[in-house]
Amino acid sequence: MDKVVKLEHHDVIAIVTINNPPVNALSAAARGGILECMNAAIADPEVKAIVLTCAGRTFIAGADITEFGKPPKPPGLNELLAALENSPKPIVAAIHGNALGGGLELALVCHFRVAAEDSKFGLPEVKLGILPGAGGTQRLPRAVGPELAVKMIAGGEPISAAEALESGLIDEIVQGPALGGEAFARKVLAEGRPLRKLRDDDSRLAAAKADRSIFTNAVATMTKKSRGLQAPFAAAHAVGYAIDLPFDEGLKKEGEDCMKLLVGDQSKAQRYAFFAERRAQKIPDVPADTPTRPVKRVGILGAGTMGGGIAMNFVNAGIPVTIVEIKEEALDRGLKVIKSNYDRTVARGRLTAEQVDQRMSLLTGSTDMNDLKDCDLVIEAVFELMDVKKNVFKKLDAVCKAGAILATNTSALNIDEIASVTKRPQDVIGLHFFSPANIMKLLEVIRTGQTAKDVIATSMRLAKQIGKVAVLAGVCPGFIGNRMLSKRERQANKMVLEGATLWDVDSALYNFGFPMGPFQMNDLAGLDIGWVKEKSTSSTLIEVLCELGRYGQKTGAGYYDYDENRNPKPSLVTEKIVNELIAKSGKNKRDISHHEILERCIYPMINEGAKILEEGKAIRASDIDVVWVNGYGWPVYRGGPMYYADQIGLDKVLCKMKEFEASMGSDFEPAALLEKLVAEGRKFGDLG
Ligand code: CAA
Ligand code: NAI
Repeated sequence: MDKVVKLEHHDVIAIVTINNPPVNALSAAARGGILECMNAAIADPEVKAIVLTCAGRTFIAGADITEFGKPPKPPGLNELLAALENSPKPIVAAIHGNALGGGLELALVCHFRVAAEDSKFGLPEVKLGILPGAGGTQRLPRAVGPELAVKMIAGGEPISAAEALESGLIDEIVQGPALGGEAFARKVLAEGRPLRKLRDDDSRLAAAKADRSIFTNAVATMTKKSRGLQAPFAAAHAVGYAIDLPFDEGLKKEGEDCMKLLVGDQSKAQRYAFFAERRAQKIPDVPADTPTRPVKRVGILGAGTMGGGIAMNFVNAGIPVTIVEIKEEALDRGLKVIKSNYDRTVARGRLTAEQVDQRMSLLTGSTDMNDLKDCDLVIEAVFELMDVKKNVFKKLDAVCKAGAILATNTSALNIDEIASVTKRPQDVIGLHFFSPANIMKLLEVIRTGQTAKDVIATSMRLAKQIGKVAVLAGVCPGFIGNRMLSKRERQANKMVLEGATLWDVDSALYNFGFPMGPFQMNDLAGLDIGWVKEKSTSSTLIEVLCELGRYGQKTGAGYYDYDENRNPKPSLVTEKIVNELIAKSGKNKRDISHHEILERCIYPMINEGAKILEEGKAIRASDIDVVWVNGYGWPVYRGGPMYYADQIGLDKVLCKMKEFEASMGSDFEPAALLEKLVAEGRKFGDLG
């Protein structure tokens, strides 16, 4: 096996290359290897400058996360960084791919940094529930100023090479990192450039030292969306040490704060979520080397709420799309919505007008299904009616070329049944996007009993290409996410008719960490989805609201009343309808605590998750967690419903379900798997 780190000499330049696939993480072997090679190069009188670079697809993507929580192995990262920073010979970090976390911290102690054009730079530790613990919060503000540093450290998003150059994070953009690094090192020697140690350079801090609001405003902006999370606040706070304290003191406090987060429950859950997302890509009977089908053009049927958003995903990734509607009018409307979505992004400064033109040019509208004949993948997003879907699939079967993948975006219909009308059920799959489809990260990929393995592999690959997190599920009503959601909805509605207010239910779930509660969520989606006026019986709250034209946010009123800025207000109209429904039922109202609301909303979901596992509709419990974190706003610092159940104890969940079953009936009948795991003293996480 190749050594993890090797040292070569190109006359007076030493080249230290890390080769630790897949992402050159700073494992103990990598840290030891770098230190050994650096010490050798520093001690070698022939060597005048050192280039630190990486083999493979990327520079260092950070600490080796698999080592977290285990006894530390020497050398520690700070020891390694100090050795590099104190080198009397110039060290040039030559970067390509990603310089993330500990990888960027390592680059920050080098005296110079050059990078290939496609490189990315970031301190994403907050996403793992920690903060950069090896000087990142102290050196990055000294390199780029506290404003950008807060943005990168509390937000966790990487910046591009162009931004890195502009902000002073790197010295030069080079063609090939190794050669470019070497050329730069020779230039440093020729020009006799002084070694730049960021720890000793406070020049970029001067403005914020004089006017602290530069820093505090940046913190306020960056932490706006971090409710419930500890790491972004702690990370931003640590950047403040750079402004307020001498370097060594700041470094010490940063390390202490990082350790506190590392041993906390939030980081544990966030690290679990990181690996869960990656595990979800592994499908036992579809190995990673399964061949995939090329997808060069995508067809979409239906330019409504979902079709338009789905189309945007593909054109954003540079894949041309043909979008087909029944009538010219609907097509025009759909295309206009796409364009105005893009225009809003331009107005927010996230895209340029040229980029939008380029994306729109990849989009072709049509009212003729024959125009889908050259597509490698067609995604159907027409009305949610089995007969309509079957008709569409019969036509697709006739029109599409052999080998094309035929996908449906149905939320609940039986995909085996849809596939059965085609002569190629092996090519049919569910691709269940979430609304708004251009934004939500989750994609449920639904295999039928007959879906071919290469169709599954292609769908998983494509999901990654368009920036989605894919989870494979089997056919069942509501698949993974909506199937579990329906259990929560049912209890939320029941509790309102027992005496809880809507806003009690919503605030209990909001305080748990969801971005909004079930009623607010439904107001956002539209209460009229699935409501048919002619069949409305005035017997449920939602029916009466729809009959009154209260469809949710879009009509200014639903469960809640909304002001012109779409802020919800508890509604007297809704309260009156609820009271009338309760009076009709002849039952008495009772007080329901937030504690009960949470247990009644969440435990039946966990129970349904257990049934989904039992039936083999999800591969593993962690896949269910990935669905909930990425599709339904489950707070990532609580890992996901199945992880959460493991943390509180399955015996407790089972005991409560039985108690509820005794008083409220079969909604709470425990899943056999839940009973079995409790009897065996095991957890969902033990299922593998
Ligand atoms: N440690 C250990 N393994 C890692 C890793 C890391 N830092 N980063 C990625 N991996 C593993 C993944 O688990 C995956 O393994 P499998 O193939 O076995 O599933 C493999 O590397 C490839 O990862 P991806 O599928 O994510 O590959 P990608 O090309 O889509 O993305 C990436 C690459 C952008 C680097 C992404 O993996 C990523 O964001 N990694 C994490 C980066 C990070 O958070 N770094 C900070 C670490 S914390 C730190 O550095 C703190 C400190 O020093 C004190
Ligand atoms: P929508 O009503 O907004 O759009 C459907 C569009 O399909 C309409 O513009 C209609 O003109 C068009 N259409 C109907 N028949 C057609 C045909 N034969 N050929 C071409 N176009 C045709 O509906 P929406 O909300 O976009 O839903 C579409 C599908 O996505 C449904 O199956 C739905 O269950 C599913 N879905 C919806 C979600 C949502 O939140 N709206 C979320 C996830 C899935």
